Amino acid sequence: MEKPEEKSITVSRTILEVEDLKKHFTQRRGLLSAFREDESVIPAVDGVSFYIRENETMGLVGESGCGKTTVGRAILRLTPLTSGRVIFDGNDITDLPADKFLDVRKQMQMIFQDLDAALNPKMRIRAILKEATTVFGRPSDAEVDRRIDELSEQVNLKPAKLTSYPHELSGGEKRRVGIARALAVGARFLVADEPTSALDVSIQAQIVNLLRGLQRELSLSYLFISHDLRIVELMSHKVAVMYLGRIVEMGLSGRIVNNPRHPYTKILWSSLVEKQTMEASPAFLTRTDWGVFDFERPAAGCRFAPRCPIYIERGKPDICTNPDSEPELVDVGDTHKVACHFPL
Ligand SMILES: Nc1ncnc2c1ncn2[C@@H]1O[C@H](COP(=O)(O)OP(=O)(O)OP(=O)(O)O)[C@@H](O)[C@H]1O
Ligand code: SF4
Ligand SMILES: [Mg+2]
Repeated sequence: MEKPEEKSITVSRTILEVEDLKKHFTQRRGLLSAFREDESVIPAVDGVSFYIRENETMGLVGESGCGKTTVGRAILRLTPLTSGRVIFDGNDITDLPADKFLDVRKQMQMIFQDLDAALNPKMRIRAILKEATTVFGRPSDAEVDRRIDELSEQVNLKPAKLTSYPHELSGGEKRRVGIARALAVGARFLVADEPTSALDVSIQAQIVNLLRGLQRELSLSYLFISHDLRIVELMSHKVAVMYLGRIVEMGLSGRIVNNPRHPYTKILWSSLVEKQTMEASPAFLTRTDWGVFDFERPAAGCRFAPRCPIYIERGKPDICTNPDSEPELVDVGDTHKVACHFPL
């Protein structure tokens, strides 16, 4: 499949800007949870910044639990921010009052990761789409019907499926409904959260093609979330790699895939390649000696140090675990940024 054209996006204006976004969850433990000491903080998103241009897709990749969905939910204000700023179409929407935010919300929608939870099992597909098209206004029945027909056509959902319940649909069809629902009120920016997960490879390709076709047709911008770097590469103009709540590498898709500079990105990519080809990867890149991925015990300094092969190879340099020198994203050329003291 042809990859997205990088050149065509360079002149577009910025639709979304995220500045130093933080979302910390507080978790209470045990019977004495009324006491503050028994609270633990999960820094699910811990200082994330990026921007997305019109007609552009940014892929957000990283293993389960690294904070991808929380980034998407925080941008759409489905969860309150701990701190940071979100700027949509030039306007700071971080503290916009709820009534004013409604108008923005129409333009930013989410394709939810867990569609079994997001699609009401007791509603037929037509009713689900009707609900989505009428949530921000009161269009006439004829307008709603016309819009539902248009949406089903746009996402290639057979009209006969409109009378089905969610459980009667295949995984791919459910994804199409999720996409139609997100498009129902005319969104310009979509957070697509793992839209290809749990689908066969051929259906994954159909969904990727559909999203890319809709992007061209409707001038959409996407934050495309996936743990699968291979799909992210097919979909995205640029890619951000997340590890334990932070972006550790970011840049144009081709560079992140072909010339990863952060050890984590390299491992992420090589473990996928390894899975695909069943060939053994170099011993220092195998996933087996990675250790525990745990928010409750973040390392001092670089969060990746407990699993980093370069840290071991270089004789455990102090700078990697120094609490005062957590690596920041540094430009290594051509807008490629890496947060590592010893980039590859
Ligand atoms: N409502 C919540 N309360 C407490 N902790 C939460 C909450 N939502 C998410 N978390 C925690 O925040 C961290 C990031 O979760 P998130 O769902 O954003 O990860 P993810 O990268 O989307 O993972 P996956 O690939 O499995 O979907 C995880 O440790 C998760 O347990
Ligand atoms: S800063 Fe050190 S521990 Fe962190 S990724 Fe780079 S080499 Fe590894
Ligand atoms: Mg998720």
